[in-house]
Amino acid sequence: MANVAVVGAQWGDEGKGKIVDWLSSRADVVVRFQGGHNAGHTLVINGVEYKLSLLPSGVVRQSKLSVIGNGVVFDPWAFIREVNAIKEKGVTVNPENLIVAENVPLILPVHSALDKAREEAKGAGKIGTTGRGIGPAYEDKVARRAIRLCDLTDDAVLVEKVDALLAHHNALFRALGAPEMTPADILEPLREIAPQVLPYAAVVWKQLDELRRAGKRILFEGAQGTMLDIDHGTYPYVTSSNTVAGNAAAGSGMGPRAVGYVLGICKAYTTRVGSGPFPTELTDDIGELIGQKGKEFGVVTGRKRRCGWFDAVMVRQAIKTGGIDGIALTKLDVLDGFDEVKVCVGYRLDGQEIDYYPANAGAQARVEPIYETFEGWKDTTRGARSWAELPAQAVKYVRHIEELIQAPVALLSTSPERDDTILMTDPFAD
Ligand code: GDP
Ligand code: IMO
Ligand code: MG
Repeated sequence: MANVAVVGAQWGDEGKGKIVDWLSSRADVVVRFQGGHNAGHTLVINGVEYKLSLLPSGVVRQSKLSVIGNGVVFDPWAFIREVNAIKEKGVTVNPENLIVAENVPLILPVHSALDKAREEAKGAGKIGTTGRGIGPAYEDKVARRAIRLCDLTDDAVLVEKVDALLAHHNALFRALGAPEMTPADILEPLREIAPQVLPYAAVVWKQLDELRRAGKRILFEGAQGTMLDIDHGTYPYVTSSNTVAGNAAAGSGMGPRAVGYVLGICKAYTTRVGSGPFPTELTDDIGELIGQKGKEFGVVTGRKRRCGWFDAVMVRQAIKTGGIDGIALTKLDVLDGFDEVKVCVGYRLDGQEIDYYPANAGAQARVEPIYETFEGWKDTTRGARSWAELPAQAVKYVRHIEELIQAPVALLSTSPERDDTILMTDPFAD
C-alpha cells in the first residue's frame, strides 16, 4: 500500500498544511521528518483556522497518529505551548495520538539566542531566519554535541552534556560580544520541562515499522521547500535541513522504499520570505496585488512575503532534484481577474539562455527571467470543487504548467478551506 510524502516545491508556504490535512483523511499516520517550529502550516476547516508549527497537520484529525521524527529539531517549550494551544481549540492531543522520537535533538534557548545574535551581526547581509534557533541546533547535531530528548531521562549524562555544549557556545557568545550562559541557565528549564515532554517520547522507528507491516498508510509532511533545501536551494539563503522527500526516510527511521509517492506542493505564482535571490519577484503594483489577494504574510514571524510570477524552471528543477511524482497546485484563485498572467520559462545569464537555476550565488542573483504571457480569466476559480467548474483559460494555464514542469497536477486547491480541493490523481492509489 502506497505511502505519500508531501514536500514544498518552491520557497515554503505553498499550502502544505492544507494539502496534508486534506490527504490525512486517507492516511493513518502523519510524520514530520525535518525542520522545526520555523514552519507555519495553516489549516482551515469549516471556517476555523489552525496554525501549526511543530505539530504534524494530521493532529486535528484526532484518530490519526501524529509523529515527530528524529530528523526534526525539537524545542520542548514550543512543543508544550503548541499542544496547549491546540487543546484550547477543542482538539484532543495526548501521548496516544502524538509521539516524538526519543533520539530527536533539542533546540535550547542558547540556539535561538545565537541565531538572533548572528543575524544581528550580519546586518544587511542577514539570511532573514525565523530566529527559532534552527540552524544552530542542526549545527550541534552534526557536531555530535546535541542534547537529545532521551538525555532528559538521565540527569548525570545531562549535566556532562550541558558542560560540553557551553564550552563551545560561550566561546561563540564571547566573540559576538553577547552575554555568556551558565549550566544552570540550561539545566533548570530542562529539568522543569522534562516531565511534561517525556510522556510523548517513543521509539518511533519501531512503531513506524510495526504500523507499516500492519498495512497502515503513512503520510510524510515536509516543511519549508526545495529552494530552501540546504543542498538544492539558494545557498546560503536556505534553512539548515534537507527539505526534499529523500530525507523523509532518514528523518523518520524508515527505508527509502517506505516513502512512496512524492507530492510536490506549489502555488500558481511564487512567494519567498526572508532574504536571497528571487528571479521572478515583482516589486511593482502587481506584486502588491498578489500579496494582498493571497494574504501573503508569514505564519511564524508575520513578515510580508515577497511575491512574483510562477517560475516553471525552478519548479521543474525541484521536481528533478526531489523526485517529485506529481504536483498539488494551490492558490489558483489568487490569479482570478488578472488581465494577463506570466510564467517564467527560461533564464538569461550574462547574455546566454539557460534552462536551469545555477548554483553559484552571484549567478543566481544575476539571472533574468524569460516570460511567456497568458491571457487571464475573468470568471472565478475560488471554491471550485471540480475540474468542470474552472474557466477555460484557467484550465489552459494549468495544462501548460504541467507541460513546462514535466509533471502532472494531481491536486488543485482553490481556497484555504479544506474541501475546496480538486483531486485528479489519488497519490495513495499510485
Ligand atoms: P505551508 O507552510 O506550506 O503549510 O503554507 P502556509 O500555511 O504558510 O501558507 C499558505 C496560505 O495559503 C495559508 O494561509 C492557507 O490557508 C492559504 N491557502 C492554501 N491553499 C489555498 C488556496 O488554494 N487558495 C487560497 N486563497 N489560499 C490558500
Ligand atoms: P513552511 O514549512 C517559508 C525561511 C526563513 C529564512 C530561511 C532560514 O511554513 O513552508 P530558518 O529559521 O529556517 O533558519 O530560516 O528559511 N523559512 C521559511 N520560509 N516557509 C517556511 O516554512 C520557512 N521556514 C524557514 O524565512 O529565509
Ligand atoms: Mg508556512
